[in-house]
This record gives sequence, C-alpha cells and structure tokens, in this order.
Amino acid sequence: MEASLIGFVDGRLVVPDNPELVALPGDGIGPEVYEATCPAIAAAVEASYGGRRAITWRVLPIGQAAVAQGLDPLPEGTVEAVRRHRVALKGPTMTPTGGGHRSINVRLRQALDLFRSVRPVRYFEGVKSPVRNPHALNVVIYRENTEDVYAGIEFAQGTPEATELGDWLRARNFDVPDDAGLGIKVISKARSQRLVRAAVRYAVDRRLRRVTLVHKGNIMKATEGAFLRWGQEVVRQEFAGQAVVASDLKGAPVPEGVVLVDDRIADAMFQDLILTPSKFDVIATTNINGDYISDAAAAQVGGLGVAPGANVGEGIAVFEPTHGTAPDIAGKGVANPGSMILTAVMLLEHIGWDEASRLLMMAFAAVLASGRMTGDLALGRPGIQVLSTSGFGDAVAAEVRRLAALTAG
Ligand code: NAI
Repeated sequence: MEASLIGFVDGRLVVPDNPELVALPGDGIGPEVYEATCPAIAAAVEASYGGRRAITWRVLPIGQAAVAQGLDPLPEGTVEAVRRHRVALKGPTMTPTGGGHRSINVRLRQALDLFRSVRPVRYFEGVKSPVRNPHALNVVIYRENTEDVYAGIEFAQGTPEATELGDWLRARNFDVPDDAGLGIKVISKARSQRLVRAAVRYAVDRRLRRVTLVHKGNIMKATEGAFLRWGQEVVRQEFAGQAVVASDLKGAPVPEGVVLVDDRIADAMFQDLILTPSKFDVIATTNINGDYISDAAAAQVGGLGVAPGANVGEGIAVFEPTHGTAPDIAGKGVANPGSMILTAVMLLEHIGWDEASRLLMMAFAAVLASGRMTGDLALGRPGIQVLSTSGFGDAVAAEVRRLAALTAG
C-alpha cells in the first residue's frame, strides 16, 4: 500500500488508508517518548483495521536535531512539510531563556496559523490525584492561540513607546502612572468566532451536552465581554437546531440532542471545575484564561504527565504533549511517554480513525489501572511496577493486542 497525503475538502479532512504523516521527535526526552509511542500506535491501527490501514511516518528535523544538521531550529522545509501533510506528531522543543532562538512553538503556530489549542483533560485510574473524585472531570479545553495579551504588544517602562502611549492615555484621563510598563489586550471578532465555532462544532459532532464560554466580561467588557457576545452570535447564526445559547432558552428545557452553550466568569470557573466538574464537557475561552484553566484542570487529574495537546488551524494540526523537554531526565529511559501516547489518541481521532483511537486510550488506561507506570507517576507507592519509557510503550502495545483479541474472541 503506497502512502499518500491527507486532503482537505469543504472544511473536512479526506484521509487515505495509508496516510503519510509528519513526525517531529524534538529535543530532550522528545525522541524517547516518540520512539516509545510508535509501537503502541502501530498496534492500535493494526488491531483495528488489520492490514487495511497504516500510517507512514515522515520523520523530520526540528530543534537541536535540525541545528546539528546545520539548519535553523525550525527549518522552512519542516514547516512546509507540515503544511502539505496537514497532520504532525511533535515532541517538545527547547526554548532558551534570556537570548538564543525564538520559541519554535510560537513560530510554528504563527507560520501555520494554528489558532486553537485543544486540551482534553480526564482522569485515569491509578494516577495519584489531589481531589476526592477525580473521575468527575472529563473536559476538552479550546483555548484561543493567536491574540489576547499574549500577542506580544508590550512596552517596557521608560521606553519612548511607553511614554508616548502613557501620555496619550493620561491626556484622556486614564489613570496610568508615568512609571508603568504597558501591554495591550487584543480580542477580535473573527478570531473569537472561529475559536467558538470549532468548539461548538466539536461538541455537535461528538454529541456532547454542553459548551461553556469562559470570559472575564464583567470587568473587561470590550475584549472578554465581546468574546462572549461574538461567540453567542456564532451559535445563533450557524448552529440553529444543533446548539442553543442558554439565555435564549428563557427557562425552557434544552431540546433533545441540542448542545447547550452557557458561560462562566473565569474566576467562578476555577471554583466550578473543582466543585461541580461533571457539569462541563467543552470549555471555549480566550488565550490567557485558557492557559490558566488548562494547567489547573490537568493538576486536578494528576498533572501534566498525562495531559495531551494539539495546536490546530484550518485543515492543519500539530499534536504534542503538554510537558517540556525535561533536560534533567533526558537520555535516562525514565521519561513518561503517557502524554505522547494520549496525544496520539487525539491524532487518531482527528483523522477519523476512532476505533484505533479508542483502543489506544483503553489500553493506556488499562496499563495504568493495573499498577504499571513510569517512576514520575509511581511516586514510590507500594504495589506499583515501575516501567522504563520503552517498557511502558511496549506494555501499552501488548495491552492493545490483548484487548483486541478479547473483543475478537
Ligand atoms: P518540563 O515539562 O520539561 O519539566 C518539568 C518537570 O517535569 C521536570 O522535573 C521534568 O523532569 C518533569 N517531566 C516533564 N515531562 C516528563 C515526562 N514525560 N516524564 C517524566 N517527567 C517529566 O518543563 P521545563 O523544565 O519548564 O522546560 C524544559 C524545556 O522544555 C524548556 O526549554 C521549555 O522551553 C521547553 N518546553 C517545551 C514545550 C513544548 O515544546 N511544547 C512545552 C513546555 C516546555
């Protein structure tokens, strides 16, 4: 079976049976967790589709691997390959602090307009969690990725720009001290709406109950408040009969099969995630709120070690674990490949290979539930079998085959 490229027609991916996808193993523990994940992905695809489907990986350099070949840390050829292939599995890449090259992730996001960060957060039996009922949390967080206070429009205290902008504001009676650094929050209609559109489409396609728009619109009316209004407008204009804005119901029950789109003030959301986590399915929010909520939610189910992620644009998606390069443990064979394995679960779902995605997720959950895990999750607890990076990947692959044999039998 010859590998071919994924297409994109009428806003949907067209996935051949043997797609060629890009792999960017990355720096630090990236190559180790990527290598450990490959056999588990291959096993899930093989067990789900026999020989009918397979993924061919095109491994390309990024980060230090690219520099070692005399290339830029984010080679143009790599960016173009991701654009053409449409789906990539990426390991973490190192960003030097205080000088050195710009963040590869930021550059890749900008080059490919990967406008949303998608992070599913759920609990896996066997993982140590700080809350009493971690099972109750199972959400997918859609975070806007391109604007907000993260757009980098900042003027340091004392610069001519800060002085000029400060003078402009003071002339209009805004209370801006003349020793202030200034940053600008940018929230636009089109970018807010494409984020909310993607989140609601996901909930509608997956038959989920609820999308919650999270904002701080009570205080920042022109930006966070506008995000809410524009999001609600998308629901009314584009999802009639499929989703409904909670306030439009005026107390009536949600019609059967229709997604409820409600909203929460950001600070209340942090409480609600802990007090009533089972209420939430999909959270759609601005860049800064999403940044905080993603990590808080991940902590609730046992930390970033088991949290996958993706940066997604129009017909292009880069899947990557949420942890970094972990230089302190790189090369020791002890890194947890769990986040990368769950990232692959997302990737398989994204290309519509739901059977393989579910099987990989079930196998991952079963291995953890059986008390087999890497040292970072074991935390010295008794009765746990500590596995190496590749050992964990192999255990998941074996579990995939065992589960598939059970269902076949
Ligand atoms: P980190 O996530 O690399 O490490 C934080 C701590 O968690 C360390 O103690 C590390 O050993 C541990 N850890 C992380 N992943 C683990 C895994 N899979 N298994 C077991 N333990 C794990 O975060 P840090 O130290 O802040 O960043 C290191 C480098 O990674 C920096 O250069 C940073 O810029 C980069 N980074 C890259 C990301 C990406 O490419 N997506 C995301 C976050 C950080």
